Amino acid sequence: MRRVIFVAAAAVTFGAASAFAAAPAPQGDATKGKANFERVGCWECHGHQGQGGNAGVRIADPVPLAWPAFLAWVRTTSGDMPPFTEKVLPNQDLVDIFAYLQSVPKAPDYRTIPLLALQVGR
Ligand code: HEC
Repeated sequence: MRRVIFVAAAAVTFGAASAFAAAPAPQGDATKGKANFERVGCWECHGHQGQGGNAGVRIADPVPLAWPAFLAWVRTTSGDMPPFTEKVLPNQDLVDIFAYLQSVPKAPDYRTIPLLALQVGR
C-alpha cells in the first residue's frame, strides 16, 4: 500500500503523463540490462558497475532513485548528464538497466579484506 502511494506521488511530482511511469517498477532482466548499460554508454560516466567515476556519480549499491524517478530522470535530465530518449533507449531496455543496477552486489566492508585491514586496521 505504501508503495502504491509512493509511486503515485512520484508520478505526480515528476508530471509523468505516461501510464508506464505510474506503474510499479516492471520486471527487468539484469543480464540484458548490463548489455544495454554498456551499449548506450552509461558506463562511460558511471563506471561499469555504476560505482561512479570522474564524470558521473554512484548509481548502484544503492540505486539512488525508485523506478518512476529513475525513469523521469533519464528521460528529462538537463544538467551534466545528457537525456536519453525512447528512440535511443526504449523503456524496456531502461527497465533492464534498472534491474542490472539493483543486482550489483554490495561492496564488502574493507576491514574484511586482509590486505586493506593490514594497512588501515590500526
Ligand atoms: C556524460 C556522462 C553521463 C552519462 C553518459 C550518463 N550519466 Fe547519469 N549522471 C551523470 C552525472 C554528471 C550525474 C549527476 C547529476 C548531474 O550533475 O546532472 C548523473 C546522474 C544520474 C542519476 C541520478 C543519480 C542521483 O543520485 O540522483 C541516474 C539515475 C543516472 N545518472 C543514470 C544514468 C543512466 C541509466 C545512464 C545511461 C542510460 C546514464 N546515467 C548516463 C553523467 C552521465
